[in-house]
Amino acid sequence: MWLIMKVFVLHFIGFLLLGGVLPANAQERRYKFVLRDAAYARLCTNKTILTINGQFPGPTIYATKGETVIVDVYNRANENITIHWYKHLYFK
Ligand SMILES: *[C@@H]1O[C@H](CO)[C@@H](O)[C@H](O)[C@H]1NC(C)=O
Ligand SMILES: *[C@@H]1O[C@H](CO)[C@@H](O)[C@H](O)[C@H]1NC(C)=O
Repeated sequence: MWLIMKVFVLHFIGFLLLGGVLPANAQERRYKFVLRDAAYARLCTNKTILTINGQFPGPTIYATKGETVIVDVYNRANENITIHWYKHLYFK
C-alpha cells in the first residue's frame, strides 16, 4: 500500500554563480532547515502554512560552481513532506 504523502511545493532558489574562480578544493555549505506548521488567520478562518526556519517561502540557498551543499531537514510538521528544489542560474 502506498504511503499517503501530502505534497507541499516549496520554493527554493539555488543560485549558481558562474564565472568565479573555482577553488582548488571545493567548499562545503551546510544548511539546517526546520519545517514547522505555523498558524495564520485569513478571512475569519485559521489555516496552517508550512514554514522553513519560520519563513515562507523557504530560504534561498546560494552556492558557487563546484561547491557541495548539504541540507539537514528536520520535519516538525504534522505531515510527511516532499521538498521540490528549483534551481536558477545567474551568470556574472
Ligand atoms: C483562530 O485561533 C485563535 C487561537 O487559537 C482563536 O482564538 C480564534 O478564535 C480562532 N479563529 C477562528 C475563526 O477559528
Ligand atoms: C508518514 O510516513 C510514515 C512512514 O514513512 C508513516 O508511518 C506515517 O503514517 C506517515 N504519516 C502521515 C501523517 O501520513
